[in-house]
Amino acid sequence: MKKEKAPRNRTLTVSPGERAELKKRIFYPGKDGFSLARIINKTICGDVFAIMDLLPSQFADLLIIDPPYNLDKNFHGFKFSKSSDSIYSAYLAGWFPKILHVLKPDGSVYMCGDWKSTFCLYQIMRDFTVIRNRIIWQREKGRGARANWKNTTEDIWFGTKSANYYFNAGAVKQKRRVLAPYRENGKPKDWVETAEGRFRLTCAGNFWDDISVPYWSMPENTDHPAQKPEKLIAKLILASCPENGIVLDPFLGSGTTSVVAKKLGRKYIGIEINEDYCCWAEKRLALSDTDRSIQGYSNGVFWERNTSNLQIKEKK
Ligand SMILES: C[S@@+](CC[C@H](N)C(=O)[O-])C[C@H]1O[C@@H](n2cnc3c(N)ncnc32)[C@H](O)[C@@H]1O
Repeated sequence: MKKEKAPRNRTLTVSPGERAELKKRIFYPGKDGFSLARIINKTICGDVFAIMDLLPSQFADLLIIDPPYNLDKNFHGFKFSKSSDSIYSAYLAGWFPKILHVLKPDGSVYMCGDWKSTFCLYQIMRDFTVIRNRIIWQREKGRGARANWKNTTEDIWFGTKSANYYFNAGAVKQKRRVLAPYRENGKPKDWVETAEGRFRLTCAGNFWDDISVPYWSMPENTDHPAQKPEKLIAKLILASCPENGIVLDPFLGSGTTSVVAKKLGRKYIGIEINEDYCCWAEKRLALSDTDRSIQGYSNGVFWERNTSNLQIKEKK
């Protein structure tokens, strides 16, 4: 018997009637090809490995790549199997160098992984991009292990196509609570007093502990088994894609990259092999016509975890 959804459960659902409508928005590869005009702001339903060579070259400002990790995972029928490092590296080598032709000469790439995949990711990023950094983000959710440490972090490797690249550090500032409120001549030094406490705006580092993984009471939540948080993707897009620029995600999943790009005034193209996920992405894109909010990001700053909805008014 199908379980009833709890009243506060906001996980996205798609009815059969909606599905038929949403499918009309999806781009299905056909004989007319992949000109930029045809695929811009679209979800392409298909196998990225069959499509990547046919895409236009040098149009994307940013590539956000969240491939299957080197784990056993069932993406609602599409099963990915854990293998050795060398087999996983060969899998990456089969497509990563090829997909880079879509990037502009000053474009950037982010590639996601867990601790086990990360060494293979590092090698391929080092070999084919100018590797710039590794972001580690803390995920609170995770199953405890009896004979091991619980996995509570993931990695995102950052690389660029050349030495000349776009990066806007000012767009990804973080609002942090001040623990030691230092004053100079009686006035707060680099922090502000608000009704909710004392805060400081800081530049984002490469360890992110302010991210909440989507869960059932969040409107962005879907049943995708590896969905990324909108707040996380928002940081990548704001830092590395100019307004009106184009973001491509070749493993789109539930649509997070496209949805966040749209909310932030960027253009997007997503590729996903699973038609159900493409429908979820399209429904999220449609919902973002009326709700552009990103949990944890407001007034141009990223808030600490679980302070996202505070309307913090600064004291005069
Ligand atoms: C880690 S998930 C991405 C999750 C996504 N970032 C999100 O927020 O929902 C990887 C996705 O890649 C898709 N995928 C795997 N192989 C693919 C292929 N060859 N072509 C297109 N999509 C593929 C899977 O169906 C899965 O949805």
